[in-house]
Amino acid sequence: MAKKVIFAASEAVPFIKTGGLADVVGSLPKAFDKEKYDVRVILPKYRIIPERYQSQMEYVMNFYIELAGKWVYVGVFQMQLDGITFYFIDNEYYFSGDRIYEDGLWDLEKFAYFSKACLNTLSAIDFKADIIHCHDWQTGLIPVYLKNEYWNPNNYGDFYQNMKTVITIHNLKFQGRWNIDDMMRITGLGAYLFTSDKLESYQAGNYLKGGLVYADWITTVSSVYADEIKYPFYGEGLDGLIRARANNLTGIVNGIDYDEWDPEKDPMLIQNYGIGNFAEEKVKNKTALQEELGLTVDGDRFMIGLISRLTDQKGMDLIDCVIEQICSEDVQLVVLGTGEARYENLFRYYEWKYHDRVSANIMYDNTRSHRIYAACDAFLMPSLFEPCGLSQLMSLRYGTLPIVRETGGLKETVEPYNEYENTGTGFSFANYNAHDMLHTIEYAKGIYYNRKKDWNGIVKRAMASDFSWAASARKYEALYEQL
Ligand code: GLC
Repeated sequence: MAKKVIFAASEAVPFIKTGGLADVVGSLPKAFDKEKYDVRVILPKYRIIPERYQSQMEYVMNFYIELAGKWVYVGVFQMQLDGITFYFIDNEYYFSGDRIYEDGLWDLEKFAYFSKACLNTLSAIDFKADIIHCHDWQTGLIPVYLKNEYWNPNNYGDFYQNMKTVITIHNLKFQGRWNIDDMMRITGLGAYLFTSDKLESYQAGNYLKGGLVYADWITTVSSVYADEIKYPFYGEGLDGLIRARANNLTGIVNGIDYDEWDPEKDPMLIQNYGIGNFAEEKVKNKTALQEELGLTVDGDRFMIGLISRLTDQKGMDLIDCVIEQICSEDVQLVVLGTGEARYENLFRYYEWKYHDRVSANIMYDNTRSHRIYAACDAFLMPSLFEPCGLSQLMSLRYGTLPIVRETGGLKETVEPYNEYENTGTGFSFANYNAHDMLHTIEYAKGIYYNRKKDWNGIVKRAMASDFSWAASARKYEALYEQL
C-alpha cells in the first residue's frame, strides 16, 4: 500500500502565493512516485483564492474543534489538480482577510487554529498519514500539538500514535514569535511547554522552535543552508538548537516545475527556443520585451533581469549602493517585484532618470516574469542569505546567466564560470559587498560583449543543468522510508 503523506502549508501555487514556499508546496507533490506515495496537500481556504479555483472546490464536511477553550468551526473542501488532492480548511473568521499574512498576534492565532484543524481533518476524512510534512513556522505547532495532545490515546485512541512529522525550513528568519502569555492564551498550550528546551526562545514563545523541537526530522532547502544555519550569522538565534538536532537535519535542494518552466514550450513567450537554437531565437524575446517596456530596441544590448521581493534579504542595499554604475549606457536593467518602499522608489527613480534603459515594474505579474527570464542575458541575485532561491533555477533553465552571491542555495546551484577550464553556469562573488558585486557584473558584461562564443558556452551549460524535482523528490522519499 502506498505510504500516506500530507503536506500542511500556508500557501501553494496556483491557489495562493507570496513567495517561493508556494512554488515548492504546489509543485513538489507531483514529483513523488504515485505507486508508492499518496501525497496530498492541506491549505487554508482563504477568501482571496481566485474564484476560478474556489468554484472547483467540493464541500466535504464540517465539524468543530476545541482551540484554547473555545469551540471553533472547521469546514473541509477538496479539489483535484494535476492528479494531486488538495484539501482546504474553511473558516471565515480566520481566512477572510485581504492578505494571507496580516498582523503578528492575529496571524499566530490563525495558524494555531489551522494547525489543529489540519490534525483533526486527518481523522475526520480518515486519512491516517504516515508522515505529516510541515512547512515553515505557520505549521510549526502541528508537531507540538501532535505529540502533546493527539498522541494521547484517551483523546483519539491510536489514530495519531504512529504518525511521524517532518518540518521543512524555507526561511529561518520567520519564526512566529510573541510574548508567552498571549501565546498560551491563543494556543491553549500549557506553561510547561514554554521552557527553553521547548517553545521558549529569548523570553518569547516561538512556533518554529516548537516545530524544530518536536518534529521527527528537519529538512531545509539546500545543503549549504543546512550548514550555514548551524552558525550564529545565519542561525537567527536558533543555531544552538540546529546544532543540537544536526543528526536529524537534511538539506534537500529545491527544484522547479520543468513543465511550467520550459523555454521550448512556454506559451507566454514571444519566441520559444531551446538548447539547440537559443543563439538565434532567444534574442527575439529581448527585442519584444524592449518594445513592450519602452526601452531602446537593440538585440545586442546587455540586459540584466531582477525579479525579487525588494528587501534587504535579497541584497537590495548592495544594488542601491552602486545602481548608478550598474545602469551604464551599455546595460539595460529590468526589475519586477514589490517590497520596501525605499527600494520601490529607488527603481522608479532610475526608470525616470534612464527611461531608455531601466524598466521598473513594481508589481507581481506572472506572464511578465516568464518573459523577463527569457529576454535577459543575465539575472542578478545578490542575496544576503538565500535558503534555496528559485529564480536562479528559472534563469538557468532559460539560459539567462545568474549573477549571485555565494550563499545557501545560490552557492549550491550556480557553478561560477571558470575561464581557464571552460566550466560553470553563471557568475558569483563571495563577500556581501557592493563593489564585489559590481565587479562581477562588469566581468560578466565583458564576456558577453567581447567573447560571445564563451558566453554561449556558459548558456549551453546553464540550460543543460538539471534542477527538475526528480532528484530531490527521491531524497524526500528516502527520508520518508527511513522514518
Ligand atoms: C523561501 C526562501 C527561498 C526558498 C523558498 C522555497 O522563500 O527565502 O530561498 O527558495 O523559500 O523553499
